[in-house]
Amino acid sequence: MSNPAPAFDLSQYRFFAVVPAAELGSGERLFLEVEGNPIVMFNIAGNFYAIGDVCTHDDGPLGDGELDGYQIICPRHGARFDLRTGKVLTFPAVIDAPAYPVRVTDEMLEIGLPKE
Ligand code: FES
Repeated sequence: MSNPAPAFDLSQYRFFAVVPAAELGSGERLFLEVEGNPIVMFNIAGNFYAIGDVCTHDDGPLGDGELDGYQIICPRHGARFDLRTGKVLTFPAVIDAPAYPVRVTDEMLEIGLPKE
């Protein structure tokens, strides 16, 4: 696995506290809705990532997919996405999924949504 740190310009995001960081252990995932956006958040070896929980191919439940390193595999038709960036990697999806920065503040996980 390569660099785990996605490059987000954090000044372009509004952050929302969601859960205590201790509640999302390594290897776990968490489904949540923030400001109406369905999101799945992952802890991979102590690093946190979040992407949209809807596949861009045909609205499959992306967050239910298996992980392969930093890739998530849509359970419906097998498209792969990089969960660090949301970038689509394989067909049948061709559109990137939204990816969201995650940070820890006062032991709370905060997720960033783009400023409007
Ligand atoms: S709905 Fe995800 S690959 Fe088709």
